[in-house]
Amino acid sequence: MRIPLMAANWKMHKTIPAIISFLDSFIPLMRELGSDREVVIAPPFIGLETVCRALRGRKGMGVAAQNMHFEEQGAFTGEISPLMLSDLGVGHVILGHSERRHVFGETDGFIAKKVVSALEHDLKPILCIGEKLEQREAGETNAVLEAQLRKGLSGVTAEQAQDVVIAYEPVWAIGTGKTATPEQAQEAHIFARKWMAEHFNSGIADQIRILYGGSVKPANAAELMALPDVDGALVGGAALDAESFAEIALCPLTPRA
Ligand code: 13P
Repeated sequence: MRIPLMAANWKMHKTIPAIISFLDSFIPLMRELGSDREVVIAPPFIGLETVCRALRGRKGMGVAAQNMHFEEQGAFTGEISPLMLSDLGVGHVILGHSERRHVFGETDGFIAKKVVSALEHDLKPILCIGEKLEQREAGETNAVLEAQLRKGLSGVTAEQAQDVVIAYEPVWAIGTGKTATPEQAQEAHIFARKWMAEHFNSGIADQIRILYGGSVKPANAAELMALPDVDGALVGGAALDAESFAEIALCPLTPRA
């Protein structure tokens, strides 16, 4: 039984006053949050403490970091460690986001080290995978997803894999307003789940949550969440506004097997 996870990725947006104002509007709207889903917010690093404090003790709600280094400490100017995140009360960490891969040049090998380190520090990694438009057009989608899963999870044991969340975010759908069709999303999610069954086992494959990300909006969230292999959403632009993200986070969910 997979509990859907509705996650906000704020990317490099919001000052502390803007974060406080979002939380003031958002938290009361979450009164309707039931036990059928979880909601996570990934603010920029400066907002982690504020969001952690505001959400502490609120059932079904949690905080994610948008990135981290794999070492606990050291001479890594500008980086944040897993120890620092878990000490704050952060529960998840987004790793291998397409912007980290394609704007900042993070490699699968680098991301793989972060995934293992997150798990070792009780942080649930949200490992992002997804093909670029030219790769989809060249018929390489599955090969890209396979390589990102194989390399990104190369250090993860079957036991640890239970705590991994996968986010399928086709690069061409991120911030473009162009959402994957339900068929495209379902096909990629099934591919990733089958890979999990082959690489780990069918129990893990059934359990692992695979989120969809890429232009999720209040208008399309329920349709995407109705897909049998879509177990939540990773939302960028539409999660910056409290009412908009609340609508997505509370969207109708089809009961799942
Ligand atoms: P958008 O929802 O703005 O397309 O961003 C998706 C994303 O990258 C979430 O991590």
